[in-house]
Amino acid sequence: MLKLGVNIDHVATLREARYRGRAAGEPDPAEAARICERAGAHGITVHLREDRRHIQDRDVWKIREIVTTRMNLEMANTPEIVDIALRLRPHIVCIVPERRTEVTTEGGLDVAGNEAALAETRKRMNDAGVEVSLFVAPDLAQIEASARVGAQFVELHTGAFAEQFSEGGGADAELERLTVAARAAHGLGLRVNAGHGLNYQNLPALLRVPHLVELNIGHSIVSRSVLTGLEAAVKEMLALMQPYRGGV
Ligand code: PXP
Repeated sequence: MLKLGVNIDHVATLREARYRGRAAGEPDPAEAARICERAGAHGITVHLREDRRHIQDRDVWKIREIVTTRMNLEMANTPEIVDIALRLRPHIVCIVPERRTEVTTEGGLDVAGNEAALAETRKRMNDAGVEVSLFVAPDLAQIEASARVGAQFVELHTGAFAEQFSEGGGADAELERLTVAARAAHGLGLRVNAGHGLNYQNLPALLRVPHLVELNIGHSIVSRSVLTGLEAAVKEMLALMQPYRGGV
């Protein structure tokens, strides 16, 4: 069965828009994690970015404590974040490239250009009992390098597929690249995840790609939940207002 990891970063994005710098606020990503698990998600994904734009340190510790499925920490390969991950010990880390100016993770990791540093982090994580995934473009050189680094997983970047799909025409070229990459990764003994830009429209097309273990999906699920939850939220507020009798 194809598994779903829900990326709840954008629950924290909404909280930070109102409560940045405060010790608490709504919506609480940990509460969101509980709801995702109750709904059947197979894992919870959070990205502790160096600039802490959404998920905060306190969130990762709380989520680590309450997650009953599998916590996937997305992270840059930097000393500060590696140190946090080694103390936190999520079930798995997904190493991603990070640029402060990007809105979201834009490209795949250059594994081939950073093999030694990634191999060292991979070993430190594995020694601590944490599995390692590398977020890569569907590119054979990066996949071969990921195998040499000794990662357990690659997460194939589906951003280009999502872009091509949204332009119309079915995204056959990107689906072919993902298929070739997934076969190569599987052949090298890597397990294959995928994510970025997946949504309710393009997901059915992606199911053509072989060997997928888990999809990590964030923005579209959190976006959809705002709209599907709005009716109940408005009704609940109206019910609270209903007893008002004009203060007399
Ligand atoms: N996988 C990785 C490695 C990511 O960096 C992201 C975005 O944080 C996702 C999956 C989820 O992407 P989206 O929010 O577009 O579903």
